[in-house]
Amino acid sequence: MTRENTRRRLNELKELLNQYNYEYYTLDKPTVSDAEYDRLMQELMELEAQYPELITPDSPSQRVGGEPLAAFTKVQHTSPMLSLGNAFNEGDLRDFDRRIRQEVGDQFSYICELKIDGLAVSLRYEKGIFLLGATRGDGVVGEDITYNLKTIKSIPLKLKNEINIEVRGEAYMPKRTFEELNKERETRGEELFANPRNAAAGSLRQLDPKIAAKRQLDMFVYGIGENEAVILDSHSAGLDYLEQIGFKTNHERRRCASLENVLEFIEYWAEKRPSLPYEIDGIVIKVDSLEQQEQLGFTAKSPRWAIAYKFPAEEVVTRLIDIELSVGRTGVITPTAILEPVRVAGTTVKRASLHNEDLIREKDIKLGDFVTVKKAGDIIPEVVNVLEKRRTGEEKDFVMPSSCPECDSALVRLEDEVALRCINPKCPAQIREGLIHFVSRNAMNIDGLGEKVIAQLFNENLIHDVADLYQLQRDELLRLERMGEKSVDNLLNAIEASKANSLERLIFGLGIRLVGEKAAKTLAQQFETIDRLQAATLEELTTIQDIGHKMADSIVTYFAKQEVKDLIEELKLNGVNMAYTGPKAVNATEIDSAFAGKTIVLTGKLEQLTRNEAKKEIEALGGKVTGSVSKSTDLVIAGTEAGSKLDKATQLGIEIWDEAKLIQELKR
Ligand code: IVH
Repeated sequence: MTRENTRRRLNELKELLNQYNYEYYTLDKPTVSDAEYDRLMQELMELEAQYPELITPDSPSQRVGGEPLAAFTKVQHTSPMLSLGNAFNEGDLRDFDRRIRQEVGDQFSYICELKIDGLAVSLRYEKGIFLLGATRGDGVVGEDITYNLKTIKSIPLKLKNEINIEVRGEAYMPKRTFEELNKERETRGEELFANPRNAAAGSLRQLDPKIAAKRQLDMFVYGIGENEAVILDSHSAGLDYLEQIGFKTNHERRRCASLENVLEFIEYWAEKRPSLPYEIDGIVIKVDSLEQQEQLGFTAKSPRWAIAYKFPAEEVVTRLIDIELSVGRTGVITPTAILEPVRVAGTTVKRASLHNEDLIREKDIKLGDFVTVKKAGDIIPEVVNVLEKRRTGEEKDFVMPSSCPECDSALVRLEDEVALRCINPKCPAQIREGLIHFVSRNAMNIDGLGEKVIAQLFNENLIHDVADLYQLQRDELLRLERMGEKSVDNLLNAIEASKANSLERLIFGLGIRLVGEKAAKTLAQQFETIDRLQAATLEELTTIQDIGHKMADSIVTYFAKQEVKDLIEELKLNGVNMAYTGPKAVNATEIDSAFAGKTIVLTGKLEQLTRNEAKKEIEALGGKVTGSVSKSTDLVIAGTEAGSKLDKATQLGIEIWDEAKLIQELKR
């Protein structure tokens, strides 16, 4: 074939395949067999392999996911991607309706749409070709995820018209895909996604587009950003237009002439919601006329012409079969409800923490009760209440035992505490939990030692205390279930590497009562070696800023114990570093940096640093990082998807930086 003929044939194949793809994924009306589609695709791939210079961005071959990226590039949105104000009940909606009427009078109509529970993305087309797809990010700057979005088959690579346009919509994972993905992850022993939204976001934020390609996401387009193409007079006409030029819009939308119709639409979908093949978390209500939209305008964060009605968290009834008790690292006894498995908001729930005995009394929970369960924040299962009417008389009171379920020693309730504790230092559960804490990411950070492996090592008598971890032998580990050569080598390397950790990790890892990560760092910086810390008196400790009397007391008591002294000697003999190797403690105001002496809050997702890394670097430059925004905050660093903290900072007029600015100042 000549080059010219190849070009012609390639164009033909692209047109055909894009058309078939559109019929299948957007219209849901295939006109050719899978075999025919595959044959044409094969031909296209072969020709493109021969003539790579003829590959264009709208070729269907570009959907499969190319090489992994090193990082996502930032994209400035042409106009900010705002969010919507929320309504949680009819009253909120009536207020919204009243505000609209005050501004535009009585002649207007609404358009109601499903609020798809995924993530907002923007798609940019030039001359009808899909060139750039981005996440919402902080609304002003997002991330370029074009390659991942190209794997979504209902996103057209080429529009029916050769126009420049930017559109916005919701990328999501269908319920079925989500369930299959989680099932697969469960069999592989991987962490499950809490809901389809997290799964979709996780998939689109993968640097390797092949992963997104496997995840089978979908997208509904719900609006036009930048538009040089047509003049429209209403939002609904805009949706029809988007549909005409090749996009998939959601058809479950309705124009409503009155708020009463809006309420009907909401009621209808609140009930019908489970039958949809994708998750929705509410209904979006928009004023239809674009002229009236303009008249209504925007607040700082959202349009005045639209609102999102949020469905209440799904509540499901199930039976509480039992209450199980677990013993934490510090001996605290936590009761957990064992439930008859039930689906709530996309996943199966079998357990829910009951926190403490008082909560069981307050809610009057009995064994065998029917209870209502929901997911707080859509993630953590929670028992809402008991259905007293469904009691049969067979239910049994739950009696909190007086002795530890693991070691049988007497439980105590310390002054001012709701929790019951086991205070036996030899309690196997506490030792096991202590080991899990020691190896955890923010402590000694030993990768490959999950809870299950620790439990196995402990049950097989291979470890009794944290020092034993450094004595583990290769052949012992190989004998454990599910431990192959490779994982054993990785684990031994991780254990070896942990010996060099700076002192604060060890201090935190030891699990001294009341000593958290932050205090561990302060102590390591002040005393520099474990010997000096061990020798510190109560007076010395209390003079340190941020170390209170109770903590000082707990530290002194801890190091006075003979078994602690022995443990530290043993760790030393095993080559564990006992000195602080991080940056020196400095008087903040003496440092010349943009952070010195400032109180700083980190919020949202950072891309180039973990939050922990950012915190460490800021502290090394004399800044103080705190958790919540208040009047005493000097600076807020907002990553992507920053939420209420960013809003509060804006309200209080606090200086706000993005990640790029943070990195620039850290490098200075
Ligand atoms: S309209 C100016 N329509 O809900 C904002 N949003 O805060 C225009 N969403 O982040 C948004 N379905 O990602 C609109 N039919 C729909 C939607 C929708 C889901 C998401 C959107 C946004 C959030 C609202």
